Amino acid sequence: MKKIAIMTAGGDCPGLNSVIKAVVMSAINKGMVVVGIYDGYIGFVEKRYKVLDKSDVFGIEAQGGTILGASNKECPFHYPVDAKHEHYEDKVASSIRALRKIGVEGMIIVGGDGTLDSARVINEAGMPVIGIPKTIDNDMSASNPTIGFATAIENAAEAIRKVKTTAFSHRRVMVVEMMGRTSGYLTLYGGFAAGADIILLPEIDYNLNVVCNRVKEIMQSGKRYVIIAASEACKEKGKEETIARVVSDSFEQKRYGGIAEKLAREIEEKTGYEARPVVLGHIQRGGEPCTSDILLGARLGDYAVNLLADDRYGYIVGAKENVLFKTRFPKVREPRLLDVEDNDICRTARDMGICFGI
Ligand code: F6P
Repeated sequence: MKKIAIMTAGGDCPGLNSVIKAVVMSAINKGMVVVGIYDGYIGFVEKRYKVLDKSDVFGIEAQGGTILGASNKECPFHYPVDAKHEHYEDKVASSIRALRKIGVEGMIIVGGDGTLDSARVINEAGMPVIGIPKTIDNDMSASNPTIGFATAIENAAEAIRKVKTTAFSHRRVMVVEMMGRTSGYLTLYGGFAAGADIILLPEIDYNLNVVCNRVKEIMQSGKRYVIIAASEACKEKGKEETIARVVSDSFEQKRYGGIAEKLAREIEEKTGYEARPVVLGHIQRGGEPCTSDILLGARLGDYAVNLLADDRYGYIVGAKENVLFKTRFPKVREPRLLDVEDNDICRTARDMGICFGI
């Protein structure tokens, strides 16, 4: 292939710019031209392209976000065609035609499950695609870890450590709400690394009495504060998750939020200890990537270019135990679930007496 395109879609995460840099440098050094598609599938459909030179990518590997922009809403085969988003059309064929017209022969699409679902459709419609998984949620079968996860753990742990000093001063219970959607990886790893006392995961429905009793026990033991790391989608046994809003035209329609506020109120009422909610939010996926995300991003970007250069496509490339591998695009989404019985951080936490709310 002589001309390829690269696109980042879904929620952004640290490490994407490292992928872009590796793709651009590796492809240009092989005599290929790289077209950047801006703003995810919006740019794919609306033809927001630019040829990327080496000068566009100098030094970007250490920058957070994505220089190409991203969107975690629009789907190319169900694309809104009016301002009110009442009518939708399949834009895959026309968008492929437009790329072919400027000589693009293959695409590298970096994204989460939803993005790579659409990447499969594009590949099946005749544009050769290599997918690269990324998400701070770390819940994709195609790679373990995913690009962005390591940095998000660092960001979350650093933020929780800051919460601890103010919690100590005020003798407070701090309920820290963490991202991850229905996957508990980020909460487990970030919360554990920051020394959380109680970790509440979407995979384990908690019992409020158990949580409150543990809070009392810790406060009465002489420790001045309690840190609760709570996944945004965790829930009390028999109750529903807390949803902040529904984004109806998105791959993942539910946006979680509100659990920290709810739990802090309940804990204060039931235990008498002062409690405060802290929502870490997008800080977790912001800022510069850590070194391992820079490395993983570059390795996967270069791997993708090498496959396309050899006319091999229809794969997702990922890492497992630090070794790169490729798999065919799955027909149905295959999320990688956190196995709370088998995961060794879970086991270590349990052995160390950290409470999971049950
Ligand atoms: O999937 C990545 C993620 O950051 C989740 O952890 C979080 O629930 C969601 O995206 C937030 O989405 P948005 O950026 O649309 O608010």
